[in-house]
Amino acid sequence: MSIRLAPSILSANFAALGDQIRVVEEAGAHLLHVDVMDGHFVPNITIGPPVVKSLRKATKMPMDVHLMISDPDKYIPAFVEAGANSITVHAEATLHLDRTLDFIRSYKVGVGVSLNPATPLSVVEHVLDRVDMLLIMSVNPGFGGQKFIPYTLDKIRQARQIIEDKNYRCVIEVDGGVDTFNLAEVIQAGAEVIVAGSAVFHAADPARKIKEMLEIAASVGYHSKYV
Ligand code: DX5
Ligand code: ZN
Repeated sequence: MSIRLAPSILSANFAALGDQIRVVEEAGAHLLHVDVMDGHFVPNITIGPPVVKSLRKATKMPMDVHLMISDPDKYIPAFVEAGANSITVHAEATLHLDRTLDFIRSYKVGVGVSLNPATPLSVVEHVLDRVDMLLIMSVNPGFGGQKFIPYTLDKIRQARQIIEDKNYRCVIEVDGGVDTFNLAEVIQAGAEVIVAGSAVFHAADPARKIKEMLEIAASVGYHSKYV
């Protein structure tokens, strides 16, 4: 398994989304990370299914939809219908995580579960064998451009250890505050899918930033014991 890069459109210019996405896709990004916020689970509001539907026509990249919303079950069908390839819900946002994960699976899209920085891994211990992705938040969800929280590196390492020990197929995605200066550390800790919002879209040259990140990922991945 090699590292995959998932630019988050949260920090893109929303008036030129199609162009911005084309740039990162042509530069070699693998997934499009779509941050959905409801002003309730997190203190910010972003986009909903209609935007995802339009994005579907603008890119061939799989859409990795990160739901930072309360009561996610209510909206999962609409995001699948709009073209999401995987849906990630927060363990903290649903009372019945087990049921919610089954519900996502029933739509035959990728199943992801996410944890806020302070939420322990034990919360997902019993479901990790049947999710495709564990999204470890390395900032408090709600905003792009925040600083990476250092203790989450340990959490990535621990998650990776559990997944290796039990031979689960679940991949680890890391989201928040990742840029070229800390990418190597994050990969070495065990991350395989890297989200980057402001690092990419606030860069003077987003295509170049993607290429730099891909180069780092290739060189570190080669030496990492994980990828
Ligand atoms: C934060 C979002 C992230 C965010 C990452 O709530 O889930 O995906 O866009 O942005 P950066 O890379 O700027 O921290
Ligand atoms: Zn996200």
